[in-house]
Amino acid sequence: MDANQARRLVILGTGGTIAGRAAQVSDHVGYVAGQVGVGELVQAVPALAGLSLDVEQVAQVDSKDMGLPVWQALARRIAVHLERPEVSALIVTHGTDTLEETAFVLQQLFRPGKPVVLTCAMRPASALVPDGPQNLSDALAVARHADAGGVVVVCAGQVHGALEVAKVHTYRLDAFDSGDAGPLACVEDGQVRSFRPWSPAPAGPTHGTSLLARLLAASALPRVELITSHADADGGLVRALLAQGASDADRVVRGIVVAGTGNGTVHQALAEALDEAEARGVRVVLASRCARGRVVPHPGLRFADSAGLSPVKARLALALQLLAA
Ligand code: SIN
Repeated sequence: MDANQARRLVILGTGGTIAGRAAQVSDHVGYVAGQVGVGELVQAVPALAGLSLDVEQVAQVDSKDMGLPVWQALARRIAVHLERPEVSALIVTHGTDTLEETAFVLQQLFRPGKPVVLTCAMRPASALVPDGPQNLSDALAVARHADAGGVVVVCAGQVHGALEVAKVHTYRLDAFDSGDAGPLACVEDGQVRSFRPWSPAPAGPTHGTSLLARLLAASALPRVELITSHADADGGLVRALLAQGASDADRVVRGIVVAGTGNGTVHQALAEALDEAEARGVRVVLASRCARGRVVPHPGLRFADSAGLSPVKARLALALQLLAA
C-alpha cells in the first residue's frame, strides 16, 4: 500500500489523568488516575468520529508507577502496528508524570518513520472542563500532519520532541517544555504550525532491532540509580549501593547518573564515592539538576556527561545501553 493511502490510526491507552476520575467536577488533584477506558476517551472527541481506528487498552496505570512491564506491553503493540502498511500513525494516551520517560524509551526503541504521538491531560476526564479531549484532538491533527514522524508529545497545543520534552509544572495545563530547543510545532484550531524539522535523526532503532528483543525478554532493566549532588552531600548512598550489590547479586548497580549542580559539578565527598564506584566497574554519567541548559563538556569534567539528556532520560539511556551491550 502507498504510504499516502495509509489512513488507519491506532490509539493505545495506558491510563493517566486523561483517564482519571474524581468525585467532584471541581476536583483537579484528588482524583484517581487510569479509570476511564480509552474507548470512552475516544468517544469524547468529535474529530475522531467516523475515522478508521483501532483502539486498544494496553494498560490502565497512574504513570508514577510506569516501568518495564507496561513498556514491554506497549512496545509489543507498537511494533505490531508500525509494521502494518495500512496504519499511518499511532496515538498513545499516557499520564503526564513519566510521559517524557516513555517518550524517550519509545524513541530509542523504534525511532519510527511514522508518527507515534503521546498525549495526556492535567485534569481528569471528570473535570468540568477537562483538557484531555482537546489534547487528543490536537494529537490527531499531529498524527495526520505531513511533517510528522518519530515519537512526539502533544499537550496544551504544543508538540514536543521525545528527546527534549520534560514536565515542568505540577498543575498548569501547559505542563511541558522543550528547554532551549523549544517545541517542534504548535496546533492552532486543528492546524499544525512547525517551528523546526521534526526528525533530524534517521528513522530506525538506536541500538538496532536487538534492543527491542532484549527489552521484551528482560525481567528487569540493568540497575541504574539516580543521585543528586547538593549542599552537604556525601558518598553514603553510593557506598550503600555498592555494599548492597556485593551482598545481593540481583541488586548489583551497573550505573549511576548524577544530577550535578550547575554545569555538572559534584560535591567533593560524593565525587570520591563515585570514583570508587567507577573503579568497581560502575558506569557514572553526569547530568545537571538545572532545568535549562546542558552539561557543557570540558576537559575538567570528572565523569562522562549525559550529552544534553536530563537526569531521568540519562538514566534510561544508560540502562538501555547496558541492556544492548
Ligand atoms: C499520571 O501521570 O498518570 C498522573 C498524573 C497525570 O497524568 O497528570
